[in-house]
Amino acid sequence: MPGQTPIAPDAATDRQTTPAHTLCPTGRAAAVVGLQWGDEGKGKYVDLLAPGFDAVARYNGGANAGHTIVVGGQKYALHLVPSGILHPGTKAVIGNGAVVDPFQLVKELDALEARGIDTTALVVSSRAHVVMPYHKAMDARLEAAMEELAREQGVSTTAIGTTKRGIGPTYAEKALRMTAVRMGDLIRGGGILADRVKLAASLHNQSGAASGEAPLDPEALLRELEPIAERLRPNVADTTYLLHETLSAGGRVLFEGGNATLLDIDHGTYPYVTSSNCSALGIATGSGVPGRMLSGVVGVMKAYTTRVGLGPMPTEIEGELAQTIRDRGGEYGTTTGRPRRIGWLDLVALRYSAMVNGVTHVAMTMLDVLGGVDEIKACTAYDVDGVKTDRFLPDAADLTRAKPLYETLPGFAQDVSGCRSISDLPAEARALVERVEAALGVPVAFVGVGPDRAQTIMNLDRGVAPA
Ligand code: IMP
Repeated sequence: MPGQTPIAPDAATDRQTTPAHTLCPTGRAAAVVGLQWGDEGKGKYVDLLAPGFDAVARYNGGANAGHTIVVGGQKYALHLVPSGILHPGTKAVIGNGAVVDPFQLVKELDALEARGIDTTALVVSSRAHVVMPYHKAMDARLEAAMEELAREQGVSTTAIGTTKRGIGPTYAEKALRMTAVRMGDLIRGGGILADRVKLAASLHNQSGAASGEAPLDPEALLRELEPIAERLRPNVADTTYLLHETLSAGGRVLFEGGNATLLDIDHGTYPYVTSSNCSALGIATGSGVPGRMLSGVVGVMKAYTTRVGLGPMPTEIEGELAQTIRDRGGEYGTTTGRPRRIGWLDLVALRYSAMVNGVTHVAMTMLDVLGGVDEIKACTAYDVDGVKTDRFLPDAADLTRAKPLYETLPGFAQDVSGCRSISDLPAEARALVERVEAALGVPVAFVGVGPDRAQTIMNLDRGVAPA
């Protein structure tokens, strides 16, 4: 069928050729990253590409990310475990740049095993930092305190609207070094772990006392950690060597970005970002695999925009249409259940994200959600204090001043959820895909028309018409 990837034996691995083989030669890596503010549907693409890869690896973030994957009508909600776990024979790696809540990890592993999924292929870096209960408490306490202080002092809030999964405090402690605990410390146990937890608990109790929080008992926490450490011991290793050995042996590695580019601590809409490098730029430090090993970067984007938490979003819309899109797209947080903010497509932001990630292919998701919307808007430039610009402003204070300048595209009435090739799509939906390709200069290689793995248009051979 035109536009479809041929199925042919792969000499190197003796497996069938999959889309992965088009993206990534043997001995190389590819990545799947979110191009917006998260929840673009990356999990589905990681899951779809995983069969051609020998390892799927996370390199940043923690249980703040949420991947919902639907396979054969079965829904899996994963936060920490890489979605590669659903593929027998594929290693699921959590790299050194991620932060791991060990209680949450064990919960996820138990849930997967209860559904018959073998989880022995999970390997967690001994250098990944551990999210402790006191980090989560601090995350919630800081958010509440910032809101209260801002109210008291009549200044604008500097709360971030975090997921309260302890991500910021864990990365802050990593940078501070003194009381940080890594997965290696956790499974080694003994004096270093006990000392660090006791010191961290004392510090935590000092600041918690001021907010009226009950003091945390470090001995009780250490007792709780013992069986957790025992359970995770077989899964902890040096993942940098593991990944390099996989690549040297001619294997393929797929990196799975948690969160998304516009939430990247250096390249996102600071300070309304998460605390790690979520873009593909974080792969090298977060995994130990240098950037030159990357042969393909799939940027995942929704056909519209969403955001959870605070921070500017130039194309945000409210009212009936926003609610319709929210309900049709199930736009409620996988991690927190919060309703997501909704906006039109922002081509300025997407062009920037494609640029910093070095995106080679785009996966456009949720196209079906726009079925029945009369007119579709796409922001092509911003008006900033009367000056037109097509540059993104990755600083929240600047971006707040950006007013979107729109191009209007005709909508499509049809339900596209049954379409399986680009030519099945109505002309208006195809025009939207082509508009994105022209704006980004990158082919839209996948189009998602529903949550199931099967509801995907594969379009890997596509070239891009000049803008
Ligand atoms: P944190 O990562 O919990 O510190 O939250 C920082 C900001 O990033 C908040 O606005 C969160 O809502 C947002 N965020 C973090 N992870 C994700 C994600 O995976 N999807 C969408 N938003 C996220």
